[in-house]
Order: sequence, then C-alpha cells, then structure tokens
Amino acid sequence: MTHYLVTGHTGFKGAWLVQLLAAAGHQVSGLALDPVPNALFTRARVADLLTHDLRVDIRNAAMTATAMAQIAPDVVIHLAAQPLVRESYRDPRTTWETNVLGTYNVLDAVAQEGGVQALLVITTDKVYRNLNRVAGYREDEPLGGVDPYSASKAAADLLTQSWIASADCPTPTAIARAGNVIGGGDVCAERLMVDLVAAFGADQDVHLRYPQAVRPWQHVLDCLAGYLTLVDALLAGEHAGEAYNFGPGAEAFVEVGEVADRVAQLWGTTAAVVVDPAPELPEAGLLALDAGKAERELGWQGRLDFAETLSWTVAWAKADAEGGDPRELCASQIEAFNAMRPPR
Ligand SMILES: NC(=O)c1ccc[n+]([C@@H]2O[C@H](COP(=O)([O-])OP(=O)(O)OC[C@H]3O[C@@H](n4cnc5c(N)ncnc54)[C@H](O)[C@@H]3O)[C@@H](O)[C@H]2O)c1
Repeated sequence: MTHYLVTGHTGFKGAWLVQLLAAAGHQVSGLALDPVPNALFTRARVADLLTHDLRVDIRNAAMTATAMAQIAPDVVIHLAAQPLVRESYRDPRTTWETNVLGTYNVLDAVAQEGGVQALLVITTDKVYRNLNRVAGYREDEPLGGVDPYSASKAAADLLTQSWIASADCPTPTAIARAGNVIGGGDVCAERLMVDLVAAFGADQDVHLRYPQAVRPWQHVLDCLAGYLTLVDALLAGEHAGEAYNFGPGAEAFVEVGEVADRVAQLWGTTAAVVVDPAPELPEAGLLALDAGKAERELGWQGRLDFAETLSWTVAWAKADAEGGDPRELCASQIEAFNAMRPPR
C-alpha cells in the first residue's frame, strides 16, 4: 500500500483526489488550511479516509517540515495554493507567499524528509505566456503570467524546475499543468459552474461577465487521473524532471455563454442567463493546452467528452440539491469513471 500525502486536501481537487486514492486502496494523508464553509471535504466526510489530517500553513517552513516528517509519505502531490485570479489582485502578498514560498517550503520539507519516492507539483495552464492564440501550448514553450495568480504559479513552476535541476533533489519529481476543471461539490467563489449551480438551484437568473470567453472544460476526475498516471510513471522510474499538460480535446473549448445555456437545459430551469458589463480587472484570454505529450509518453487520455463532463457535473449537483449524500455521489462517479478503464 502506497502512502500519499495530498497538500491542499481540504480544497476542491484535494477532496476528490483523496477519495479517488482511497477507493484504489491507498493510504492517504493531508496537509492544508481548514476547509472553507460548505466545502466538499466536510460534506463528503473526507477526513474519515485520512491517516493524518494536518492543518498547516505551508508559508511556515518549520511547521511544514515537521508535518512532512510526521507523515513520512511515499508520494507527495502538492496542490495547496491560492488558486483564484481575482483574489490574487485583492491579496497579492498572500498569493505570492502561498504559491511560491509555500511551494519552496514543501520541496524543502520533502528533501529533509528523505524518504519520498515521487513528488508531483501541480501548476496550471495559466503558467504559459499568453499569446491569445488558438493552438494549444506545449510544455517547452515560454512561461509568463500577468495577474498575480498566473505569475506566481509560473514562478512556482520555474522554482520546481530549478529544484529538479539542482544537485539537492533526491526525489523523482515532475510538474503537472492542467486548466479549468469542473465537477460536483466545488464552492470556490468566482468559478462559472459554482455560480450556475447556486443560481439554478435557487431558480434565480445567472449573471455572466464574459459570455463569449472560450474556456477548456475538463472533468476533475480526468485531470486527477492524469496526475496519478504521472505519479505511476515516476514510481516506475520514468519521466522524472518532466512537465506534462493534462487538458481536454478541442471539442471541449466552449464559450462560457454556451456552457451556461447547456447547464440551464440539463438542470431544467426557466431562470435566465443575463450578461453584465465586464469588470475592470483583466482576465487572461483563451489558454489552450496541447496534451499530446501526456498522450504519447504516458498513455493518458481523457475519458469524459465535453457533454459527459457537463452532464456528470450537473447530475452530481442536482442529486446533491435533492438531498443525496455527497460522499455517495462522489463514490458512484468514481466507480463509474474507473469502470471506463481498469481501476487504478
Ligand atoms: N480548480 C481549477 O479549475 C484549477 C485549474 C488549474 C489549476 N488548479 C490548481 O489546482 C490546485 C488545487 O486547486 P483547487 O481548485 O482545489 O483549489 P481550492 O481553493 O479548492 O483548494 C486549495 C487548497 O489549498 C489549501 N491552501 C491554501 N493556502 C494554503 C496555505 N497557505 N497553507 C496550506 N494550505 C493552503 C487550501 O486549504 C485548500 O485545501 C491549485 O494548485 C490550483 O492552482 C486548479
């Protein structure tokens, strides 16, 4: 049994990842801040699945190292971050400290612990210098980032590359870059699907800022399966030092307005989709990932197409609104997802 440490396990991806790993029979521990109100982590009773459930601020190097030594994991998946663009404008210092210094502290804690066999650092599609082009970005293209979130994640990515290249790196390490993910139970403010579910659940109109903005739409389980495929490669002694994109195919690059209309249809609501004037804070334009390297070298492929990604997300949210148990809803979608290929 492999012991995984998930940093950021109280967040959206983290709560799904812990459940996915536990369903595969792994031992799992977590290190993060307290969950936000109404978090999937709490609602799906994810703490029950953990060996260690530590609440540690990764900006604190000593506490991060102590926690790493206490957990002594085989694998570390570093998700913990301040992940929101608009919040990064409101509080750039916390964003930089968490995303860069926090990542350094996690890497340093792994080095001090000494027994970690694989380390995966999660960044984002927003690490690429945005040229507003349609073709997907490949892993060897220049990094950049204008808003504090994107720039700090690009910095964390470069920091990890530097750490990998340094003689002090004893642990097979890789970087995973994925884009926008959706799925049941997200409560992060400022994410479209969260706003849609909240509005349609209450039969209220939904307000959009950029209806024509094109975004990639990937189910959280497809993204996490990509991360775990890469971890498996590291554990098999392959692909250390590499970065991989995990993104959906071109059919899943869809306008925000169309997604809102399709979710309204799936939900069966009569609420309207209303367009508000664009806010002042600039948001990055289209950022498409080219996931060809992960497909060729790791054999990874997304399992859910765009229609399934939306319908699984809406089905989860509707069942939840009708009183379904969030843990059972996650478990049944994980089972269905694993049945689409041999379970991990
Ligand atoms: N959700 C997406 O669409 C998306 C897209 C691209 C990349 N990502 C990346 O995936 C990762 C997880 O994102 P998410 O959507 O689950 O975010 P989330 O906000 O739901 O979860 C963030 C997690 O990080 C933890 N955290 C934040 N600051 C911390 C600190 N100082 N010390 C310890 N823990 C801290 C939180 O407690 C929480 O567990 C992030 O690295 C994010 O940049 C997410």
